[in-house]
Amino acid sequence: MKKKTNNPAITKSYAKKMETISPFELKNKLINMADESIKKIAHTMLNAGRGNPNWIATEPREAFFLLGQFGLCECRHAFSLKEGIAGIPQKAGIAARFEAFLKENEKAPGANLLKEGYNYMLMEHAADPDTLIHEWAESVIGDQYPVPDRILHFTELIVQDYLAQEMCDRRPPKGTFDLFATEGGTAAMCYLFDSLQENFLLNQGDAIALMIPVFTPYIEIPELRRYQFDVTEISADQMTPDGLHTWQYKDEDIDKLKDPRIKALFITNPSNPPSYALSRETTERIINIVKNDNPNLMIITDDVYGTFIPHFRSLMAELPHNTLCVYSFSKYFGATGWRTAVIALHEDNIYDKMIARLSEEQ
Ligand SMILES: Cc1ncc(COP(=O)(O)O)c(C=O)c1O
Repeated sequence: MKKKTNNPAITKSYAKKMETISPFELKNKLINMADESIKKIAHTMLNAGRGNPNWIATEPREAFFLLGQFGLCECRHAFSLKEGIAGIPQKAGIAARFEAFLKENEKAPGANLLKEGYNYMLMEHAADPDTLIHEWAESVIGDQYPVPDRILHFTELIVQDYLAQEMCDRRPPKGTFDLFATEGGTAAMCYLFDSLQENFLLNQGDAIALMIPVFTPYIEIPELRRYQFDVTEISADQMTPDGLHTWQYKDEDIDKLKDPRIKALFITNPSNPPSYALSRETTERIINIVKNDNPNLMIITDDVYGTFIPHFRSLMAELPHNTLCVYSFSKYFGATGWRTAVIALHEDNIYDKMIARLSEEQ
């Protein structure tokens, strides 16, 4: 006999309705339905799909807030009214004033990182001191629309170096990665899907492959009416002889990518939720498939957890011409609320080549 529930929420039609909502909404509903006493532990368990660190990185914030104080000093240096209005940072002499500010605040939290960052940019990138500090002061104050709007000049240089270190294990490929700053990795995904479609690189109904487990939006977005991609799922279901998950992929499944009808491959690497990076063997296999079978395979790799794997090497390092990499500062810096991420694309890439081959009309 079926057990009858007294909870009107758990009816058949309710369950049906649940099928239509997103995993994040479902998770919130389940937490709300849970008994008060278990809500806290339910929250811990049910939130497993989206990684929100329960720590923050302190030093970058200390440096950021100290830079904010310098920015305000600069605004007041221009002019300051008792009504609470000040000017905007002026470039002439700004680096000298910054150096004096650092001296005065030598012991302040964050001063050391700011000083090291400043020296790094001067030594490694021969940055013009006034141009650099003016960019920093204006951007921390936020008094101008950002120009270039793709990403600020010095921000791009320093993030390129960071990605070379963290995503390429300090062995980046030759050439430069162009970066595009986005409002978090989630916005990066939306821009990527839209941009690929707007540029006729992925059209409605096209075949794509998804390596799963994957961050859930990658499952949901392709199903949207405007995309309706034909999705091949490549599942990390390799097991050990004694029946344990390795969270790696079988060769025969990876070989599905040889089919040139598969235009794009979406990967979360390391995966979410299992947090395993692609094995060296699978990476090599994908490299060979791109070289020999499917040279125009567009690879979109979401590597936001890469910093947690020692010597992590993204597909952006291995297959730079084919890969669009999403990197977010949300996880490693405990900064999910700040919405900061980048999309990286190598200057020499298949996307530009394919766009150049579009028809006149397209
Ligand atoms: C694989 C993956 N990519 C992206 C995100 C979202 O990152 P962001 O906070 O930058 O939007 C998450 C969040 O859990 C994630 O797990």
